[in-house]
Amino acid sequence: MSTQERIEKMLKLSEHIMQAGGEKRIAKQHESGKLTARERIGLLLDPGSFVELDRFVSHRCTNFGQDKKELPGEGVTTGYGTVDGRLVYVFAQDFTVEGGSLGEMHANKIVKVQRLALKMGAPCVGLNDSGGARIQEAVDALGGYGKIFFENTCASGVVPQVSAIMGPSAGGAVYSPALTDFIYMVKNTSKMFITGPAVVKSVTGEEVTQEELGGAMTHNQTSGVAHFAAENDEDCIKQIRYLLGFLPSNNMETAPVVETGDDPQRADETLNRVIPDNSNHPYDMKDVIKSIVDNGEFYESQQYYAMNIITCFARMDGQTVGIIANQPKVMAGCLDINASDKAARFIRFCDAFNIPLLNLVDVPGFLPGTNQEYGGIIRHGAKMLYAYSEATVPKITLITRKAYGGSYIAMCAQELGADQVIAWPSAEVAVMGPAGAANIIFRKDPDVAAKTAEYIENFATPYQAASRGMVDMVIQPKDSRPVVINALRMLESKRESRPAKKHGNIPL
Ligand code: HXC
Repeated sequence: MSTQERIEKMLKLSEHIMQAGGEKRIAKQHESGKLTARERIGLLLDPGSFVELDRFVSHRCTNFGQDKKELPGEGVTTGYGTVDGRLVYVFAQDFTVEGGSLGEMHANKIVKVQRLALKMGAPCVGLNDSGGARIQEAVDALGGYGKIFFENTCASGVVPQVSAIMGPSAGGAVYSPALTDFIYMVKNTSKMFITGPAVVKSVTGEEVTQEELGGAMTHNQTSGVAHFAAENDEDCIKQIRYLLGFLPSNNMETAPVVETGDDPQRADETLNRVIPDNSNHPYDMKDVIKSIVDNGEFYESQQYYAMNIITCFARMDGQTVGIIANQPKVMAGCLDINASDKAARFIRFCDAFNIPLLNLVDVPGFLPGTNQEYGGIIRHGAKMLYAYSEATVPKITLITRKAYGGSYIAMCAQELGADQVIAWPSAEVAVMGPAGAANIIFRKDPDVAAKTAEYIENFATPYQAASRGMVDMVIQPKDSRPVVINALRMLESKRESRPAKKHGNIPL
């Protein structure tokens, strides 16, 4: 065979593999509202930047007549490219090839990019669309998942890992995405569950649709498994690119600084009016976030879950910050089990990837009740104490209003290592809510009402804490943006270490 013939053979083989499951299956994929693996990668990476690896990998299963089956690309397309010019690794399962099912060699292709991502210090993005373990490959498929889980865990906290669920993800297959930092789900087309509706019915008798059991909004609203919901494949991939823009490539770098054009000295008079005169009236903490961050732009993680707390990325003077904020509009902003889990995981992500934390505090307490106690609010709430104490990134706490008791400490009080605690004049830093406190202290006093008012006047303020140095400064709300940006600049050179250990034992 001449060299030219060899080249032509390679091109033909390559072309054949790139046709994946063939026209019919590709048409079916499109009809069901989904893009193909290659189309998805094309949207994710900068044009022309994709370098494919392992195109010629094939399975070696002989069970159940598989030896007579050709599975182009092993049902997964893998490689690397760039997003906004920065290196990113990617794998995209190809549903048109045996339902994107995962066999030994399919898993090996994924593991290869996971290892490269770890060695090179670049994010790894997984686009999942798979019927799960390729049944014919039996334990080889099972072992493949095990290897992927192991690599996910090794990479955790070293490189950002992002999963998009863009079709089915069932059985143990859900656990690779669950081990990554962020999960996207596409509305209507993505499903995630350990066992599908048929098994649920046979075991528990419950009747439930796939969508109800594991659709995008189920995991975004109810279970908290997913972090982001997308309208369709295009929207999902656009959002992933947007997220990556906020993040460093690995744990040894800081996030890219972006010229946002927003004046760091910009004050905002509307903030002086945001807190209602009645301390028990709600307001929208998102108005405060919008006002202080660059161009009012922020990207919320778990937007639909535990909405009593807000977790989001934003930029301040071009630098990425992770914001954790109580939301007085929802359950008065109190902390419960779900809010604690949501916040603690976000805090740990930011700390792992050198993203400073800005904590906006208006918290009346932990949610009382048997539901919460039986559900382990003690254990879950402790995650926030642990996550903040463990975090060594710059930590800035801004108290807008209530900061009561243990829940205030859990929102990163100075004692948990906040580097700067800033309070508005409306701040109420107290050991507990004024009514409760007055009831205990003045229980036997005939003039409880007057005494309570006196207590509020003197103790539901920032000044008790400020007098002990627990609050560094009391500022006009309008100056929040310049003051926080100034603090971030001051903290740029922060160095802090913790005792050496194998790893801590966060209450899980
Ligand atoms: C082998 C599979 C497969 C699988 C799908 N296919 N899943 N082949 N192993 N797990 C094949 C189908 O046979 C079909 O082949 C093609 O992929 C497309 O599938 P369809 O069923 O035609 O597509 P659709 O109607 O859209 O249904 C998609 C589906 C369904 C809901 C995902 O295929 C399904 O229920 N698959 C099985 C899911 C499952 O039970 N997986 C195993 C879980 S156990 P042809 O040749 O007809 O086109 C597991 C353990 C992991 O994952 C443990 C890790 C720790």
